[in-house]
Amino acid sequence: MKTIALYSLKGGVGKTAAAVNLAFEAAQAGKHVLLWDLDPQGAASWYYGIDESPDISAKRVVSGKEPLGRYIQPTDYERLSILPGDRGYRDWDAQIHAAKQPRKVLENLIEPFSESYSLLVLDCPPGIGALATSVLRAADRVLVPVVPTPLSLRALDEVLEHVDDKKVGKTRVTPFFSMADRRRKMHREMIESPPATMKKAPKTFIDYSTHVEQMGAHRAPISVYAPRSRAAAQYRALYEEIS
Ligand SMILES: Nc1ncnc2c1ncn2[C@@H]1O[C@H](COP(=O)(O)OP(=O)(O)O)[C@@H](O)[C@H]1O
Ligand SMILES: [Mg+2]
Repeated sequence: MKTIALYSLKGGVGKTAAAVNLAFEAAQAGKHVLLWDLDPQGAASWYYGIDESPDISAKRVVSGKEPLGRYIQPTDYERLSILPGDRGYRDWDAQIHAAKQPRKVLENLIEPFSESYSLLVLDCPPGIGALATSVLRAADRVLVPVVPTPLSLRALDEVLEHVDDKKVGKTRVTPFFSMADRRRKMHREMIESPPATMKKAPKTFIDYSTHVEQMGAHRAPISVYAPRSRAAAQYRALYEEIS
């Protein structure tokens, strides 16, 4: 099982939009996908039609007393399951700190999923805490959406520094341009001459698109309601580049 995380220190940069759509494209491509919505606000789950928080006990799950897998739900789509967002994720930082082997917590929780899934997609909340650090360590690849603006790039630099500091090992950090609006001079300039940290970014970037905005109205991945849109094609292409 491969694990990819959508992560940034910044909110509102397109993490959840990417997690929802990349998970869907992977399932379409034949992978058995689990989307784990790690955000207490549960936006990814909401887009997949889930309205309720499952009330996961942070203490019981993090200590290994209760299997996390029991909270997994099917989606309306083949080969795609979801572990819904939960208010209780706010307590996970403290629980992870208190664990006997904090570094191993997330890896141990994820390990059983490899029996049923070939891809795990983690949609992370913004910020750096014990849970985020565990994600950086457990993921094979961390995808960082970068809006082509200086502030968003600064957030990427901080992620790269954090990854260095914490010696998270084999994790690859892959930034990609997100919400790019070529009508804006600043966006155009940054896309045309990207800074060094973006040099290894995939060719594909995600444009600013009304089709992405409409996800909230449709509560479905873009390929379901606008399969021929540029946004759907871009998420598909991005998935192909990183898979
Ligand atoms: N490519 C895009 N084009 C237009 N709007 C977008 C795009 N990506 C995200 N959005 C919108 O921006 C807001 C934040 O996106 P979201 O994916 O939830 O960010 P994050 O998970 O990083 O906080 C949402 O309202 C979403 O619909
Ligand atoms: Mg989000």
